[in-house]
Amino acid sequence: MINLILLGPPGAGKGTQAKRLEDKYGLKQLSTGDMLRAEIAAGSELGLKAKSIMDSGALVSDEIVIAMIASRMEQADCKNGVIFDGFPRTVAQAEALDKMLEAKGRPLSAVIELKVDEEALVKRLNNRIAETKARGEPVRGDDNEETLRKRLQVFREQTAPIIPYYDSKDMLQSVDGMAAIEVVEAELAKILQSAKAA
Ligand code: AP5
Repeated sequence: MINLILLGPPGAGKGTQAKRLEDKYGLKQLSTGDMLRAEIAAGSELGLKAKSIMDSGALVSDEIVIAMIASRMEQADCKNGVIFDGFPRTVAQAEALDKMLEAKGRPLSAVIELKVDEEALVKRLNNRIAETKARGEPVRGDDNEETLRKRLQVFREQTAPIIPYYDSKDMLQSVDGMAAIEVVEAELAKILQSAKAA
């Protein structure tokens, strides 16, 4: 069973790659951002609470996202393995995930950091906004340049510390996220193949 973390700043390509790996390896993408946006769309109490936090570029509380992941992992479609996309995002979330996986007897297979150049992210975000508009869909409340800058700052301050956390456990692998989507996918596939063989 593969349990993989995709790590990287906003726009690094976590969602893009998670979807590709999901189809190819029968894994389930668990995106805390998508789950929170589903709560917002449903107009739930949690969604109402999360919306203003997300629109500001800040992080939703550890307790909320940890509880969401714990209950989602119980569902049958996660039994072959999962790709964590956008989770964990703080050292507290990483520690909680370690405990959760240990209790379930599901070890982490790999933590993959998508390394990207921050300036390219602004360009990618503007592409995503244009593509979303072209499809006639609503643009994400946090997809604008000002909030992206805030999200990048939050990544540096609150999420980047999980990189040495996993590195010290010898779990961390890095992939060049600036390469073309297909090239990144092929690099991730290699890591997954060796994790499967291990
Ligand atoms: P979340 O939804 O997780 O957003 P994010 O991490 O900011 O990441 P994005 O979805 O913007 O980017 P991505 O890395 O998935 O890139 P993508 O593949 O889309 O979180 C949103 C908010 O929710 C947070 O700010 C927070 O408030 C809250 N939240 C979520 N999880 C939380 C948690 N655990 N704890 C607390 N709060 C949480 O790609 C971007 C664009 O680039 C696309 O257009 C794509 O086509 C393009 N692209 C992708 N790869 C390439 C490539 N190799 N070359 C060229 N273009 C590419």
